[in-house]
Amino acid sequence: MPTQSTGSHSGTNAHLRRPVHCLLRIATLYVTFTIAPSALAQPNTSAPAQIRYDESAHTFRMDAADVSYIFGVNQSGELQTLYWGKRLRPDDPVSEAHADGGSSAFDLPVNATPQEFAGWGGGLVVVPDLKITFPDGNRDLVLHYVSHAIRNNALTIGLKDISRDVFVELKYEIDSETGVLGRSARVENRTHEPFTIEEAFAATWNLPARSDYQLRYLTGRWAGEWNLQLSALHPGKLVLESRRGSTGVEVNPWFAIEGGSQPDQNTGGVWFGALGWSGSWQINIEEDWANRVRVTGGYTPFDFAYELSPGQSLDTPQFYGGYSSAGIGGASRLLHRFELDSIVPEAPHRRLRPVLYNSWEATGFDVNEAAQEALAEKAASVGVERFVMDDGWFGERKDDHAGLGDWYVNPQKFPYGLKPLIDKVHSLGMDFGLWVEPEMVNPDSDLYRKHPDWVLNFPGRPRTEGRNQLVLNLARPDVRAYVYGVLDKLLSENDIAFLKWDYNRNWSEPGWPAAPLDEQKEVYLKYVQNLYGILAELREKHPHVEIESCSGGGARVDLGILRLTDEMWPSDNTDPFDRLSIQDGFTYAYSPGLMMAWVTDSPNWMNNRSTSLEYRFLSSMQGSLGIGANLNKWTPEDFATAKKLVAEYKAIRATVQDGSLYRLISPLGGSEYSATESVARDGHEAVVFAFLHSSQEGRLYPQLYLRGLDPGAVYSIHMHAGQPSDSTVQRASGDYWMHHGVGVSLRGDFQAAFFTLEREVAQ
Ligand code: GLA
Repeated sequence: MPTQSTGSHSGTNAHLRRPVHCLLRIATLYVTFTIAPSALAQPNTSAPAQIRYDESAHTFRMDAADVSYIFGVNQSGELQTLYWGKRLRPDDPVSEAHADGGSSAFDLPVNATPQEFAGWGGGLVVVPDLKITFPDGNRDLVLHYVSHAIRNNALTIGLKDISRDVFVELKYEIDSETGVLGRSARVENRTHEPFTIEEAFAATWNLPARSDYQLRYLTGRWAGEWNLQLSALHPGKLVLESRRGSTGVEVNPWFAIEGGSQPDQNTGGVWFGALGWSGSWQINIEEDWANRVRVTGGYTPFDFAYELSPGQSLDTPQFYGGYSSAGIGGASRLLHRFELDSIVPEAPHRRLRPVLYNSWEATGFDVNEAAQEALAEKAASVGVERFVMDDGWFGERKDDHAGLGDWYVNPQKFPYGLKPLIDKVHSLGMDFGLWVEPEMVNPDSDLYRKHPDWVLNFPGRPRTEGRNQLVLNLARPDVRAYVYGVLDKLLSENDIAFLKWDYNRNWSEPGWPAAPLDEQKEVYLKYVQNLYGILAELREKHPHVEIESCSGGGARVDLGILRLTDEMWPSDNTDPFDRLSIQDGFTYAYSPGLMMAWVTDSPNWMNNRSTSLEYRFLSSMQGSLGIGANLNKWTPEDFATAKKLVAEYKAIRATVQDGSLYRLISPLGGSEYSATESVARDGHEAVVFAFLHSSQEGRLYPQLYLRGLDPGAVYSIHMHAGQPSDSTVQRASGDYWMHHGVGVSLRGDFQAAFFTLEREVAQ
C-alpha cells in the first residue's frame, strides 16, 4: 500500500541502493492479491485532490477528479513518468520506476526513459528541458532527484546536477475539480560563477506509447484565427512556436493528442495541454521509434539566452496538462471549467460578461462626444449594459498614423474631457469602457519625439514599422513606469469599468541596447514579466476594472494573460458565418464565457455577405454577446429584434458562458450545418443554436441529438427562433431528446434556430 506523506524528504540517493527484488515484490503482490474488479475501491472522483508518496517504491501519485498522474525515481536517480490517464483505483498497484535499458547498445537508456525533466547531458538527444553553458566551457548537465515536499495540492521535487550546484525545483499542482495539472520549474544557480541558460522549458509530458496518435492544434492569421488542425503523429518532432515576442496568431500554445484514426467528439482518451505564457514560446511534440511521445513546452530557445548569476533563479512559465476519457469534447469542457474556476482573476466567483456595445465598426477613429452619446442612447435602448469607446479618443489620433503613446484626451473631440460622456453613459444605466494600446507608439507622437530610445531597436538598424507603429520596450524600467503611470492616471481620473487592451503588431529588431550586452536577450522575458506586473498592479489598485485581451484580433490568448484579464477578443473578423468556425476553434482551448462576439453590420465588411439581424445575433449569442453595429442605420424593426434577443440572451447567458459546451454538428470542412449545445452547470437547462449555410436539393436539416442531459428527467422545449419539425412534442425525457433528437426545419440561406430545454422539477 502506498504510504501517505505530507512532510518533506531530502537527502542522498539512498533508494538507489535498493535491491532489484523490490520490483518483483510489487509484481508478486499484485498476482497474489488480485481481487475481482468490482471489489476494488472505486476512484472517488468528487474527493479533494490527493498526493501520495510511496517511500518503498519511491513513487509519487497525484489523483484528482478522473485523473491519476504517477511518476517515480528510477535506479539512476532520474525522475520517470509511470502513468498519466484515467484515474486508477486507490489500491491499484504502481510499478517502480526503472530506467529503460534501450533496445540495443546503440540506444542510450537516457533517451528511452520517459523523464519528467531532463538536462542536456549524459548523451541525451531528445528535447532537453534545460540546457546550460558554464563559464569553463562545460555544457553537460545531468539532473537527479534530491528531495521532495508535499503541501496541500502541491508537490515540489528537487533535482540537482550530478556534480555542480545547479538546482531545479519542479512544481506540480493538481486541480481537484478537473484533474488539470500545472507544472513549472525554477532553476537556481548555487555555484560561484554565472552561467548561461540556453533552453528552459517548464515540463515534459510523457504519453503512453501508441502508434495511432492524432494531434490537434490551432493555427491562424489576422481575421482568420482558430483553425483547428488534425494531423497524425509519426516518429520525428513537430514544433509549435511563436518567435514574435507575444503569444501569436500563427499557432496558439495549446495541443490535444488522442489515439485512433477517427477521433470523435465524445469518446476516447485525450491528453491536452496549454502554456501560461504571453511571450515567445515553444511546444515540441516528439515521437521516437517506439512510438513514445513526449511533449515539452516553455520559452522558445530561439534567440534565447539567460545569464544566471550566483544566488539567482529563473522561473519558467506554467505548462498545464489534462486528461479526459470523454473525447475532445470532454477535454474542452475540463479546460473551460479550469479556466473559469481556477485561472481568471475573479476565479472561482467570476461575474458573467455584461452585454456590451463597441463603437469601432460604427465610427472607426472618428469619435467625438456628441456622436458617442447618440450611440450610447441607442445601445441602452436595447438593453446593453456596457458602452465601450474604441480607438481614436486620445492624442492626435485621426487614423493609425499618429497618437499612440500620447494618452491624453483629444481636446477637439472631447473639449471637456471624458466626464460628460461617461456621465451620460452612467445616466443610461450602463458602465463605461475604453480602448487602449499602451505597449505601442507611433513615430508621429510626442512620446516618440521625446524618447526615441524607448522602443525595441538595434542601433544603426532600420526600425521596421507595423501598422505605422513601433513596440515600446516594456523591459525598461522607465517604460514600465510610464505605461503604468498613464493607465493609473486614466483610471484614477475617470470612472472606467473596462479596458479593451490592444496590442496590434509583432516584434521586429528585438534589441535592448541600454542593457548590458549579456542581458540583452532577456528582453523576451522581462517584457512579459513587466506586462504582467503592470496588469497586476492596476488590478490591485483598481479592483473593479475589467480588462479584455485583444491583439489585432485573437493574437494574445493564452493561460498567462488569462490570469490577469477577464475576456478575450477572438478575431477582428465579425462575419457571422465565418465566426461559426472561428468560435468553434476558439472553444477547443478556451471557454465561450471568455469569447467576445459582436453583432455587426450587414453586409459585413469582411466578405460583403448579407445576413439577417437574427442570424447575426444567434451566431454571437454562442459566446459573450456584444454589439458593434452602426446603430444610426438601424430601423425600428432592428431595434425591436435586438431588444428581444438581448433580453433572451440575458436569460440564458449563465448557461452559455458558464455551462458545459457540446458540439453537436461541426461547422468545419465546409459543412452546410453547425450546431452547439450548452448545458447549465446545475443541469436545469440546455441551450441550442443551429445554423444552416444554404439549403440544397431540398435536403432536410439533420436531426439534433442532444447531450449531457439527465436521462430520466423531463424537459420541456421552447423554440426562440426557427421552427421545430414536429411541434406536437413539447415535453419528453432526457433520453428522448438525446436519442430521438430534435428536428428543426431550417430552409434557405443563412438561417438559424435557437431553442432551450428546461428541466421540469419533479413533484
Ligand atoms: C485592432 C482591434 C480592433 C480595433 C482596432 C482599433 O485591430 O482588434 O477591434 O480595436 O484595433 O484600432
